[in-house]
Amino acid sequence: MNAEKSILVINGPNLNKLGSRELNIYGEQTLEDIRLSLSSLASLETIDLIFCQSNSESEIIDEIHEAEQKGVKGILINAAAFTHTSIAIRDALLTLSNVFIVEVHLSNIFKREKFRHQSYISDISDAVIAGMGSQGYEYGFKFIMGKINGST
Ligand code: DQA
Repeated sequence: MNAEKSILVINGPNLNKLGSRELNIYGEQTLEDIRLSLSSLASLETIDLIFCQSNSESEIIDEIHEAEQKGVKGILINAAAFTHTSIAIRDALLTLSNVFIVEVHLSNIFKREKFRHQSYISDISDAVIAGMGSQGYEYGFKFIMGKINGST
Protein backbone atom coordinates (compact mmCIF):
# COMPACT_ATOMS: atom_id res chain seq x y z
CA MET A 1 0.00 0.00 0.00
CA ASN A 2 1.23 3.49 -0.74
CA ALA A 3 0.14 5.43 2.33
CA GLU A 4 1.21 8.94 3.23
CA LYS A 5 2.32 7.77 6.64
CA SER A 6 5.12 5.36 7.41
CA ILE A 7 6.63 3.53 10.32
CA LEU A 8 10.39 3.16 10.14
CA VAL A 9 11.93 0.09 11.72
CA ILE A 10 15.68 0.45 12.25
CA ASN A 11 17.90 -2.51 13.04
CA GLY A 12 21.47 -1.99 14.09
CA PRO A 13 24.67 -4.03 13.82
CA ASN A 14 24.70 -7.82 13.74
CA LEU A 15 20.92 -8.09 13.60
CA ASN A 16 21.34 -9.33 10.02
CA LYS A 17 22.73 -12.44 11.73
CA LEU A 18 19.54 -13.26 13.64
CA GLY A 19 18.59 -16.89 13.23
CA SER A 20 22.20 -18.05 13.47
CA ARG A 21 23.63 -15.69 16.08
CA GLU A 22 23.61 -16.65 19.79
CA LEU A 23 20.40 -18.63 19.42
CA ASN A 24 20.02 -19.08 23.17
CA ILE A 25 19.76 -15.30 23.56
CA TYR A 26 18.14 -14.09 20.36
CA GLY A 27 16.08 -17.08 19.27
CA GLU A 28 15.71 -18.72 15.88
CA GLN A 29 13.72 -16.07 14.06
CA THR A 30 15.57 -14.28 11.29
CA LEU A 31 15.34 -10.58 10.57
CA GLU A 32 13.42 -11.49 7.42
CA ASP A 33 10.83 -13.33 9.59
CA ILE A 34 10.44 -10.16 11.66
CA ARG A 35 10.13 -8.02 8.52
CA LEU A 36 7.43 -10.31 7.13
CA SER A 37 5.40 -10.28 10.34
CA LEU A 38 5.51 -6.46 10.53
CA SER A 39 4.75 -6.22 6.86
CA SER A 40 1.58 -8.26 7.33
CA LEU A 41 0.55 -6.02 10.26
CA ALA A 42 1.19 -2.94 8.10
CA SER A 43 -0.89 -4.35 5.25
CA LEU A 44 -3.94 -4.31 7.58
CA GLU A 45 -3.49 -0.57 8.11
CA THR A 46 -3.04 2.49 5.93
CA ILE A 47 0.61 2.69 6.79
CA ASP A 48 3.82 1.98 4.90
CA LEU A 49 6.58 -0.02 6.50
CA ILE A 50 10.18 1.04 5.95
CA PHE A 51 12.39 -1.71 7.31
CA CYS A 52 16.15 -1.37 7.35
CA GLN A 53 19.23 -2.90 8.85
CA SER A 54 22.73 -1.51 8.89
CA ASN A 55 26.01 -2.32 10.52
CA SER A 56 27.07 1.26 10.00
CA GLU A 57 26.31 4.03 12.47
CA SER A 58 26.42 6.69 9.76
CA GLU A 59 23.84 4.89 7.61
CA ILE A 60 21.49 4.67 10.58
CA ILE A 61 21.92 8.39 11.25
CA ASP A 62 21.21 9.21 7.58
CA GLU A 63 18.08 7.05 7.69
CA ILE A 64 16.85 8.99 10.75
CA HIS A 65 17.62 12.34 9.08
CA GLU A 66 15.58 11.38 6.02
CA ALA A 67 12.67 9.99 8.04
CA GLU A 68 10.37 13.00 8.28
CA GLN A 69 10.69 13.73 4.54
CA LYS A 70 9.46 10.17 3.92
CA GLY A 71 6.35 10.70 6.04
CA VAL A 72 7.62 8.68 8.98
CA LYS A 73 5.36 9.12 12.01
CA GLY A 74 6.91 6.49 14.23
CA ILE A 75 10.26 4.79 14.63
CA LEU A 76 10.81 1.37 16.14
CA ILE A 77 14.52 1.12 16.79
CA ASN A 78 16.72 -1.74 17.84
CA ALA A 79 20.07 0.01 17.68
CA ALA A 80 21.69 -3.21 18.96
CA ALA A 81 25.20 -2.52 20.33
CA PHE A 82 24.96 1.16 19.26
CA THR A 83 22.27 1.50 21.95
CA HIS A 84 25.00 1.42 24.55
CA THR A 85 27.54 3.62 22.79
CA SER A 86 26.03 6.04 20.31
CA ILE A 87 25.41 9.62 21.36
CA ALA A 88 25.30 10.33 17.61
CA ILE A 89 22.22 8.15 17.08
CA ARG A 90 20.61 9.71 20.17
CA ASP A 91 21.28 13.19 18.76
CA ALA A 92 19.87 12.17 15.38
CA LEU A 93 16.64 10.99 17.05
CA LEU A 94 16.49 14.31 18.91
CA THR A 95 16.36 16.19 15.59
CA LEU A 96 12.87 14.74 15.01
CA SER A 97 9.65 16.36 16.09
CA ASN A 98 6.26 14.63 16.22
CA VAL A 99 7.67 11.15 15.66
CA PHE A 100 6.90 8.42 18.21
CA ILE A 101 9.97 6.48 19.18
CA VAL A 102 9.96 2.99 20.60
CA GLU A 103 13.20 1.29 21.59
CA VAL A 104 13.09 -2.46 21.23
CA HIS A 105 15.48 -5.25 22.19
CA LEU A 106 14.98 -8.94 21.65
CA SER A 107 16.76 -9.79 24.89
CA ASN A 108 16.24 -8.32 28.34
CA ILE A 109 19.30 -6.08 28.37
CA PHE A 110 18.91 -5.54 32.13
CA LYS A 111 19.38 -9.25 32.79
CA ARG A 112 22.67 -9.25 30.90
CA GLU A 113 26.15 -7.71 31.27
CA LYS A 114 26.29 -4.37 33.04
CA PHE A 115 27.49 -2.50 29.94
CA ARG A 116 24.16 -3.37 28.28
CA HIS A 117 22.15 -1.70 31.06
CA GLN A 118 23.07 1.71 29.74
CA SER A 119 21.02 3.01 26.81
CA TYR A 120 21.45 6.36 25.10
CA ILE A 121 17.98 5.95 23.61
CA SER A 122 15.64 4.93 26.45
CA ASP A 123 15.13 8.32 28.05
CA ILE A 124 14.23 9.97 24.75
CA SER A 125 11.83 7.17 23.72
CA ASP A 126 8.08 7.00 24.25
CA ALA A 127 8.35 3.33 25.22
CA VAL A 128 10.97 0.66 25.74
CA ILE A 129 10.48 -3.05 25.11
CA ALA A 130 13.08 -5.63 26.09
CA GLY A 131 13.11 -9.37 26.54
CA MET A 132 10.07 -10.31 24.47
CA GLY A 133 12.03 -11.64 21.52
CA SER A 134 10.64 -10.93 18.09
CA GLN A 135 7.17 -10.39 19.61
CA GLY A 136 8.52 -7.14 21.04
CA TYR A 137 8.67 -5.76 17.50
CA GLU A 138 4.99 -6.58 16.97
CA TYR A 139 3.96 -4.95 20.27
CA GLY A 140 6.05 -1.91 19.47
CA PHE A 141 4.58 -1.64 15.99
CA LYS A 142 1.01 -1.90 17.35
CA PHE A 143 1.77 0.68 20.05
CA ILE A 144 3.04 3.14 17.44
CA MET A 145 -0.02 2.43 15.24
CA GLY A 146 -2.26 3.24 18.21
CA LYS A 147 -0.40 6.50 18.81
CA ILE A 148 -0.62 7.49 15.16
CA ASN A 149 -4.34 6.70 15.08
CA GLY A 150 -4.84 8.51 18.37
CA SER A 151 -6.38 5.45 20.03
CA THR A 152 -3.77 4.93 22.77
C1 DQA B 1 20.11 -6.27 21.42
C2 DQA B 1 20.87 -6.18 22.74
C3 DQA B 1 22.21 -5.50 22.56
O1 DQA B 1 22.89 -5.41 23.79
C4 DQA B 1 23.07 -6.26 21.59
O2 DQA B 1 24.28 -5.59 21.34
C5 DQA B 1 22.37 -6.60 20.33
C6 DQA B 1 20.95 -6.94 20.34
C7 DQA B 1 18.80 -7.07 21.54
O3 DQA B 1 17.99 -6.98 20.63
O4 DQA B 1 18.59 -7.78 22.53
O5 DQA B 1 23.00 -6.70 19.28
O6 DQA B 1 19.78 -4.96 21.01
